[in-house]
Amino acid sequence: MIEALDLKRAEAFVPQYVSLRNSYADLLLSEPVAVDETVAWMRSTTAELVALAEDGILQGVAILYPDRDGEVAVFTREKGKGLGKQLLTAIGAVARKLGLPHVWAWVLEENTIAQRLFETSGYILKAHESRRFQGQLKRGSRYFMALGS
Ligand SMILES: CC(C)(COP(=O)(O)OP(=O)(O)OC[C@H]1O[C@@H](n2cnc3c(N)ncnc32)[C@H](O)[C@@H]1OP(=O)(O)O)[C@@H](O)C(=O)NCCC(=O)NCCS
Repeated sequence: MIEALDLKRAEAFVPQYVSLRNSYADLLLSEPVAVDETVAWMRSTTAELVALAEDGILQGVAILYPDRDGEVAVFTREKGKGLGKQLLTAIGAVARKLGLPHVWAWVLEENTIAQRLFETSGYILKAHESRRFQGQLKRGSRYFMALGS
């Protein structure tokens, strides 16, 4: 059975988290991270991390960065099983609980699966926007969702 958990309270999953996250480094525009630094980061960050796991296998993670105006990132082990949607619902609930007025996410232009995920999860396309990563300008879009009270 799939269970939802607070990743910051489940450090045993950190190696799986690091490996899954690093496998999507290009799509997330993030540098690969190491296990030790991630454990230290999780102990001190204001970011919230919701994970889904089944039989000890990490199935996906959504991250909310309150200090980045409510930016959200999400990734799953397998696609098309509804996990992305489930994670966005869960992280949206966390954001509401924190009293954030909105959440947003940046998606690479060619990442059509993520675009579809955000569009079918209540986000709207706010703007086309480029981001600089490893010296290159990456074209993408900013998705936005207001959170009612
Ligand atoms: C983007 C990502 C999180 C989607 O997760 P997911 O678990 O596949 O998403 P879901 O199963 O909940 O599907 C959500 C929507 O995506 C679409 N989708 C999922 N898999 C798809 C596929 N293989 N091809 C086309 N569309 C797909 C579906 O249309 C679905 O919408 P619908 O069923 O209402 O039509 C996942 O593909 C991923 O981890 N990608 C790499 C990391 C990333 O790009 N993150 C986004 C940047 S923050």
